[in-house]
Amino acid sequence: MTVNGRQVPLAGTVPHATALELLRGVGFTGAKEGCAEGECGACAVLLATEGPDGGTVWTPVNACLVPAHALDGQEVVTAEGLGTPDELHPVQQGLAAAGGSQCGYCTPGFVCAMAAEYYRPDRAPAPGGTGPEAQDPEHGPNGFDLHALSGNLCRCTGYRPIRDAAFALGMPQPGDPLRRRSEGGAPPPATTDIDVDGARFVRPETLADALRLLRDEPDAVPVAGSTDWGVEVNLRAARARLVLAIDRLPELRTTTVSDDVVELGAAVPLTELERRIAGDVPLLAQLIPQFASRLIRNRATLGGNLGTASPIGDAAPVLLALGATIVLVSADGGEREVDLADYFTGYRTTVRRRDELIRTIRIPARRAIPGVGREVSGFVKVAKRRFDDISSVAVAVAVDIDDDGVVVAARIGLGGVAATPLRAYATERTLVGRPWNAQTAAAASLVLQSEGTPLSDHRASAAYRTRMLGTALPALYASTTAVPA
Ligand code: FES
Ligand code: FES
Repeated sequence: MTVNGRQVPLAGTVPHATALELLRGVGFTGAKEGCAEGECGACAVLLATEGPDGGTVWTPVNACLVPAHALDGQEVVTAEGLGTPDELHPVQQGLAAAGGSQCGYCTPGFVCAMAAEYYRPDRAPAPGGTGPEAQDPEHGPNGFDLHALSGNLCRCTGYRPIRDAAFALGMPQPGDPLRRRSEGGAPPPATTDIDVDGARFVRPETLADALRLLRDEPDAVPVAGSTDWGVEVNLRAARARLVLAIDRLPELRTTTVSDDVVELGAAVPLTELERRIAGDVPLLAQLIPQFASRLIRNRATLGGNLGTASPIGDAAPVLLALGATIVLVSADGGEREVDLADYFTGYRTTVRRRDELIRTIRIPARRAIPGVGREVSGFVKVAKRRFDDISSVAVAVAVDIDDDGVVVAARIGLGGVAATPLRAYATERTLVGRPWNAQTAAAASLVLQSEGTPLSDHRASAAYRTRMLGTALPALYASTTAVPA
């Protein structure tokens, strides 16, 4: 592994060590541990990843969630590698000039997330120039997308100076070392098999190798983006005997869009998925920006979100509303396709056998159905923070409406209201055959409030969850009929 141009050996590193532990252990202490669960961004570093045109993109990731060995053969840049006290990087210079750092604990993470956006290949100044007319609240006149910082928290400076610094950044100069480096290719995945103190980390070369290991080693824990693995390791002291990295297997990273079906590779990071399927699946395009912060989405995958089977995972409600199926593969070469509505069997349990991997998620293409005038879809996420939090309740709705304005089909996926994500079949039946209007939405929302078996926990009470179910359909109806200003 290369850090700021220096080789850092991984030999002897235990498989449950995170990249953050490794970095800090060898002296790169710029990256900090704040929360150790992917919510503060203090640990953000830049990772050289493959760009769409063969070059390298500097992708910020939460080092506290990534297994150190997952970065075998990879290239990392930390805040120390961007600039020095005598020669600050333009991002560091900008933050200092704007007063964007007080205690400084969050600053290296902000610097890395800001630097990634600074180098984003398609960032371009707003066409209207730098005047106030060119500004929208979430983008700077320099094209800086504030959502690039959605995973970074600052507890003492306040965000206005940080935003000022971001919006004042220029463009990387031709001689800039990271800009020059990004013209070359990103490091390929390195096949890895290490065993330290009786625990193993394996990055297999092929899908067949991964499936054989999964069959032969019942304790193997497959990880892709490792955003769940990191939390389990850091907060619950999980120590798997075998960690199996599947995130770079090509069979799990393809996406295809045909007339009949959209296929989404289980290990495609959500940021990449958003770029590839933009416009093809509007409900997914609504989901992804709300799924989590950009830092998390740079690693998290649909396969991981379904594989962990969390009842509050945001992907499942949307994929249920889209009528998705998942394709499971195993070492005997067999594949089976399971309707997502039949996939979850109980709290964090599914029909997936231990020797199976999710290869792809299939979404039937929306076709022009004779008599169906339009489809209405929406995703409502109730959470304390909109862009960087776990849902209390999630509702995804897809409704087909005929030329007379009558609902001919409806699918509703729910999260956070039962031990598993689920389809709201009773509400769907209430909608079908009725005109799509405010009265129907109100009537169906009464039924929706009785779906599931919500519990009270530290995120929300059962009563609150029920009330939130009741607001989803009227809100969706209002959003589909709102007249643009
Ligand atoms: Fe908070 Fe990593 S330490 S996101
Ligand atoms: Fe203190 Fe951000 S400068 S937390």
